Amino acid sequence: MITHTDSLAGITPDHLRGGFFAGWPNPPSPETHLRLLAGSAHVELAIDDATDDVVGFITAISDGMLSAYIPLLEVLPAYRIGSALVRRMLERLRHLYMVDLLCNPDLQGFYSRQGMRPASGMLTRNYDRQAG
Ligand SMILES: CC(C)(COP(=O)(O)OP(=O)(O)OC[C@H]1O[C@@H](n2cnc3c(N)ncnc32)[C@H](O)[C@@H]1OP(=O)(O)O)[C@@H](O)C(=O)NCCC(=O)NCCS
Repeated sequence: MITHTDSLAGITPDHLRGGFFAGWPNPPSPETHLRLLAGSAHVELAIDDATDDVVGFITAISDGMLSAYIPLLEVLPAYRIGSALVRRMLERLRHLYMVDLLCNPDLQGFYSRQGMRPASGMLTRNYDRQAG
């Protein structure tokens, strides 16, 4: 069974060691992962009741008035709860005017099914800061 929560109560770095940031050359540590969750305006977690481990998460940062940005969404491969996490986060952000994220084109269908629409964007990355 999977529990969804917006609370970090009881979550320690040990609950975040399942293999997040797959493919990142220089991933954040579980400790940094917990700090970025705590620093986000909104977070939704999926927790495997059998282990109490976090198996999926989504974050949003926000000005609290008009806009939010969703920087991170990841689900461990054995779990299929990405759509649920996006749905729950978009519901929580419904009071805001604009909710944006960047994704690869192959994921535009995934987000379109949640009512989002494609847009163009710009970005920069400081790769020496990837681990936080
Ligand atoms: C993207 C991600 C969160 C989806 O989570 P998930 O638990 O597999 O999502 P769901 O099971 O609810 O839905 C998956 C649907 O999205 C599609 N999908 C998932 N990842 C995809 C990808 N990389 N490219 C294209 N489609 C993808 C699946 O084909 C599936 O479609 P279906 O229902 O028609 O089979 C997950 O694959 C993941 O963590 N990926 C690595 C991190 C990442 O890319 N995050 C998004 C950053 S913008």
